[in-house]
Amino acid sequence: MSKKFYITTAIDYANGSPHLGHAYEKVLTDIVARFRRLMGDEVRFLTGLDEHGQKVQMSAEKAGVTPIEVCDRLAAEFEGLCAALHITNDDYIRTTQDRHKVVVQDVLQKLYDKGEIYKADYNGYYSVRQEQFVTEKEKVDGKWPEIYGEVTEVTESNYFFKLSQYQDWLVDTIKTNEQMIYPRFRSADALQFLKEPLNDLCISRPKERLEWGIELPFDKDFVTYVWFDALTNYITAAGYGTSEFDEQWPADYHVIGKDILVPPHAVYWPIMLKALDIDLPKHFLVHGWWLSSGNKMSKSSGEVVKPLDLIEQFGPDAFRYFVTREMNVGQDSEFSLDLFMRRYNSDLANDLGNLVSRLLNMGQRYAEGKVPSVEVQDAPEKELKSLWEDSAKELIPLFENFQFHKALELIFTFVSGINRYAETRAPWKLAKSEEAADQAALRTSLATMAEALRLAVVMLTPVMPEISDKIRALVGAESFDRLEGQLEWGSKLEGKALGEKAILFPRPESK
Ligand code: ME8
Ligand code: MG
Repeated sequence: MSKKFYITTAIDYANGSPHLGHAYEKVLTDIVARFRRLMGDEVRFLTGLDEHGQKVQMSAEKAGVTPIEVCDRLAAEFEGLCAALHITNDDYIRTTQDRHKVVVQDVLQKLYDKGEIYKADYNGYYSVRQEQFVTEKEKVDGKWPEIYGEVTEVTESNYFFKLSQYQDWLVDTIKTNEQMIYPRFRSADALQFLKEPLNDLCISRPKERLEWGIELPFDKDFVTYVWFDALTNYITAAGYGTSEFDEQWPADYHVIGKDILVPPHAVYWPIMLKALDIDLPKHFLVHGWWLSSGNKMSKSSGEVVKPLDLIEQFGPDAFRYFVTREMNVGQDSEFSLDLFMRRYNSDLANDLGNLVSRLLNMGQRYAEGKVPSVEVQDAPEKELKSLWEDSAKELIPLFENFQFHKALELIFTFVSGINRYAETRAPWKLAKSEEAADQAALRTSLATMAEALRLAVVMLTPVMPEISDKIRALVGAESFDRLEGQLEWGSKLEGKALGEKAILFPRPESK
């Protein structure tokens, strides 16, 4: 029994349709998953939906439907997005599933029995309109803002999870596991948060206030609230409590956005696991935000890009390429349709798409639709080959270190190199000559372009799986399950059939 490479995304809130941020996180995780599979790992990839809570309950009431109806509709939307983006998740968890309720209740009971959860009175200011507690910090000019409506002081009993006793342990753990949080500078955010004494975490809501949740196993008047339910999904799906658990857990990567690292993933989650005697996840891969005119794109920000619209118009691979090329993982990135169109037209349609159709065209006209043989090795061939070899040795390390934007830049620099090579050799001119040397150069140039294109798309495969496969088929190359040997320059394609003309990235106006 060997341990699988277990990778997860955050589970999305069922309180709105998917937007660019959700789509990006799935693409990023999918690229890592596909890359690890090509490296020979057995991968288990989990994503899902976070379905309980006040907002879902409220929007169901407003719409006059049951909460589960709201969730079912959104689950279909989110799963539809995964399918449209060709996400290769092995599982889709929904926190309303029985398998999850069982684990949440099991975990709560264990912690309660160990004395890690206790009941206490909570005194605070409560906004009936927003159905939430508010603090003095929310006051503007000494008054609660209008959105809170009437605010009254109330006392409510709730259950709390002891965090403070694990504070020193956690600080130590984060300090000694330098590789735990990627990018590393985000560890500082967690350590900064841990400089203040930790308050115990309120993990319940009384049912009078919130029904749409998982009931506490030791008090049926309460449901568990937010993070205890949501974070536990990662162990539910790994088969906590069954013999499968050790094959998957600990997670190799939890992929999350920077807004949910501190405190939930870097503080609550490690402490929950520690208290349960479960190993910690190995790493958090923390990405930045997609911004729209400088603001975080979110359900409430108005300016939300509907990823499905872009995917429908330009295909999943163009979308995957754009988000991966533009985002330096860990930083924020601005989205605009203008930027999207520039990448689409220049990188994809011009540099890559035209190169492929040019080669196919010439292959049909000058080489009977077959990859010819390489007969000469002159300066242009040597130059292109050495450009490849310099790039090739960097690609895997860049992928291993999540530098996908740089890897793509390198690949497209090589694609430009192939275009330059074509200009230098000018096979269309060689074709006009009957000299034997020119004919040999013609054959060589077409074969060289085919091989170079095969190589160019090897590491595009995790990012643009469909287009890479198409290009491989068009230049007579086969698909592969393992990267091993794929990045080496050779002449495996000689004699293979070249495709007919193909338009890989149609211009939007012709759609
Ligand atoms: O936080 N750019 O759900 P969520 C990039 N249910 N990423 C973004 C983004 C943006 N503009 N907006 C959101 C939740 N995200 C919880 C998680 S996990 C146990 C529970 C990312 O729907 C966000 O950072 O608000 C998070 O990783 C994911 O989308 C889901 O966000
Ligand atoms: Mg959010």
